Amino acid sequence: MCGIVGILSTEPVALDLVDALRRLEYRGYDSAGIATVENGHLGRRRAEGKLRNLESRLASEPLNGHIGIGHTRWATHGRPIERNAHPHMTPRVSVVHNGIIENFRELREELTAAGHVFETETDTETVVHLITDQMDKGAGPIDAVKSALKRLHGAFALAIIFAGEDNLMMAARLGSPLVVGHGEGRMFLGSDAIALAPFTDTVTYLEEGDFAVLRNDGVEIFDRDENPAQRVPIKSQANALLVDKGNHRHFMAKEIHEQPEVISHTLAHYLDMAEGRIHLPDIGIDLSSVPRVTISACGTAYYAGLVAKYWIERYARVPVEIDIASELRYREAPLPQGGLAIFVSQSGETADTLATLRYCKEQGQRIAAVVNVRTSTIARESDVVLPTLAGPEIGVASTKAFTCQLTALACFTLALGRARGTIDEATERTLVKELMEVPRQIADQLFDETQYEHLAHLLAKSNDVLYLGRGISFPLAMEGALKLKEISYLHAEGYAAGELKHGPIALIDEKVPVIIVAPRDGLFEKTISNMQEVAARGGQIVMISNALDDDVGCPLTAHIRMPDAHDFTNPIIYAVPIQLIAYHTAVQMGTDVDQPRNLAKSVTVE
Ligand code: AGP
Repeated sequence: MCGIVGILSTEPVALDLVDALRRLEYRGYDSAGIATVENGHLGRRRAEGKLRNLESRLASEPLNGHIGIGHTRWATHGRPIERNAHPHMTPRVSVVHNGIIENFRELREELTAAGHVFETETDTETVVHLITDQMDKGAGPIDAVKSALKRLHGAFALAIIFAGEDNLMMAARLGSPLVVGHGEGRMFLGSDAIALAPFTDTVTYLEEGDFAVLRNDGVEIFDRDENPAQRVPIKSQANALLVDKGNHRHFMAKEIHEQPEVISHTLAHYLDMAEGRIHLPDIGIDLSSVPRVTISACGTAYYAGLVAKYWIERYARVPVEIDIASELRYREAPLPQGGLAIFVSQSGETADTLATLRYCKEQGQRIAAVVNVRTSTIARESDVVLPTLAGPEIGVASTKAFTCQLTALACFTLALGRARGTIDEATERTLVKELMEVPRQIADQLFDETQYEHLAHLLAKSNDVLYLGRGISFPLAMEGALKLKEISYLHAEGYAAGELKHGPIALIDEKVPVIIVAPRDGLFEKTISNMQEVAARGGQIVMISNALDDDVGCPLTAHIRMPDAHDFTNPIIYAVPIQLIAYHTAVQMGTDVDQPRNLAKSVTVE
């Protein structure tokens, strides 16, 4: 989604604004711009495409000024052209915005009738004219913004500067995240703490409905009722080092390789390693009496939830309802009183997931969130946070966050099963031991990726790829298809292997690679039958399995050998080959691995 930055300083800010915007590139964007106040006047530079185009513009037409705002735009209203790029401005006000102003048309009509002239197709420009209109009527900048905010419907984060004000910036947040950074004689604004990492690690997150008045010596924060609000500054998790690729070509590669470490961090949060027992921090919910679990999320996070459904039903014997957030929120599903709703989200800001969380809360559910950003909106609106300690995930395609989500959900399953007596101590110790082996088993897979480079040559020539899996491997097949399609742009579909003969087998011929996630578990023999059905039609089979070639009885185009592991931990371990297949195929195809076209890291609009 869009990225916002703001800096108040006693030195020129233009280059620091661009540096901060560079740390928001991972969110996905198609244009960028900055505005500053210099000698009382607003100045602006914008450019389509990547930040280097804005830097070129600034090199030829520098902007001075010690106060400024910046923006990377992911087009929602209006084409991704320079004219629609932020900041938007009148001679009196300049604004950058993340989110959607839902009532922008009626406001635009009202302001046009009042004589305002619009230059763009964007909803954001409405905000600029709304504030200007108030100032034209005699309101000071702060009152003008407060009046304008009352008229806006939708989800937004705003940063605002004013002509003639070189030590005043305003910020507002409703639905899209915004964080204030505290520097020495400088103050900052950012869509997240990563943007501010080079400047400060002391940040204050604005709450829903807050607006803030920043000056270079501090910030005043007010709640939606315009009462002064105390928001406590914290030390941010992000730092400049964490957003570098290290010795990897892409953030996605770095994050795939970080999985052993971050899964270990996540396990350490939930396990008593010394005792070999589960040790879920007190979550304030009596797990022994939960009548049903509802799980909801989007994309990859949804597939993590789908794996959890198999775990929870099998090991804790609790029925699980699961649905993608964009469906569950409108389905009016009856939810039992006292039920537990679990929301899975890397960013903790996904609009559909947040809206469904709020729906389930209204329906009397206790709310748990599996999130990677503990200060995110979803985290802050949940009764319980089950953190994934993956660290900042920069690549748009989720990898380490996915396996950390699985790790946290696996640990939660054990705690739920122990609370309900469906898992005895011996089983708990066994499964905890299996979990503690996962980091090494993943690390072992990361030593040699040449088989994936070879496989990528085959897949890169394909137009369609089919992923199959049975039982708890079915969500992995779905995730594998999503990973491949979202970064290589190849069409891929994930299917339950048992469904093959009910339609998808019509797709099979020698041009369609079939990737089968097939640990040697209780369903392996049935999956073998599916492989033979594929082979009989000339399909190219790529098997991901700890089984031996001889176990299969049909020709394999490739066999990605997996370690022998417990059924319980296979989904975490088998995530790695499907990530590497997607990664190397995308590299082979030359796509933008870390910032795939049309995608955003956090979808904070519906
Ligand atoms: C995953 O590779 C995708 N980038 C996408 O499906 C993502 O998982 C989804 O948008 C949910 O995001 P969240 O985990 O931040 O809520």
